[in-house]
Amino acid sequence: MRLDVWFSPVGIGPADVQGRTIFVIDVLRATTTMCAALHHGARALIPVASTEEALRLAQTIGSADVLLAGEKNCLRIPGFALGNSPLEMTEPVVKGKTIIVTTTNGTKALLAAQGAATVYVAAAANLSAAAERAREALAQQRDVVILCCGRETAFGLDDAYSAGRLAAAALGGPKPRKGLNDAAIASLDLVRRYGDNWERPLSYSRAGRELRRLGFGDDVRDAARPDAYPVLPQFHERRVTIAPQSQPQPAPPPQPQPQPS
Ligand code: MLT
Repeated sequence: MRLDVWFSPVGIGPADVQGRTIFVIDVLRATTTMCAALHHGARALIPVASTEEALRLAQTIGSADVLLAGEKNCLRIPGFALGNSPLEMTEPVVKGKTIIVTTTNGTKALLAAQGAATVYVAAAANLSAAAERAREALAQQRDVVILCCGRETAFGLDDAYSAGRLAAAALGGPKPRKGLNDAAIASLDLVRRYGDNWERPLSYSRAGRELRRLGFGDDVRDAARPDAYPVLPQFHERRVTIAPQSQPQPAPPPQPQPQPS
């Protein structure tokens, strides 16, 4: 089994993701916001790379059930119905809606993961659901990658700690073992350093400090609530929707019975 953490999506190409099971994390805030939206009944989210593409796609779909959401450098995009806050994704606002979303880091990392065998969306908000699926993938000998969106293409403490929590939950503890890359070992070290308290690494991170400075302290606290939005989003055919139930694995072939002598 292999479990790798990648601290940034920079330089990832189709050959890197092919055949892998990828968990994309942008805990502050894009992947938390996606979990909140689906948990509260959104039909789907469509991540796109730019404001222009979001506007074009909304026009092409041309339905009243489409909402535009997103931000640029933590600021809401003028004219968009929603920003990038999990607290905005309430049931009355998002139920039954398709949300076209563009953000600085999170949506770009999801788009970079396209072409993987499976792409899931992970955060503190769905830790248990994501960990269960990661455990299953490892048990099926699949290569698992936890892809951190990072901050402006660089390492982000918030995502790296979250990656460590997901890895530890999938592996049954934060002790390093064979089959991990160095970034996975470092992420597990962060779990040992900060323990179970999501709020500390999230609010100490550069993203967390910047969000608090901009008045999004409630979002940082919300993103630090484990299993607050217990859904498992999957990115497939350009859409993020709730992942289908995992298929039970076929039973192992029966062992030959010893013949009585
Ligand atoms: C992003 O995708 O750039 C982040 O989610 C930034 C944010 O917190 O809005």
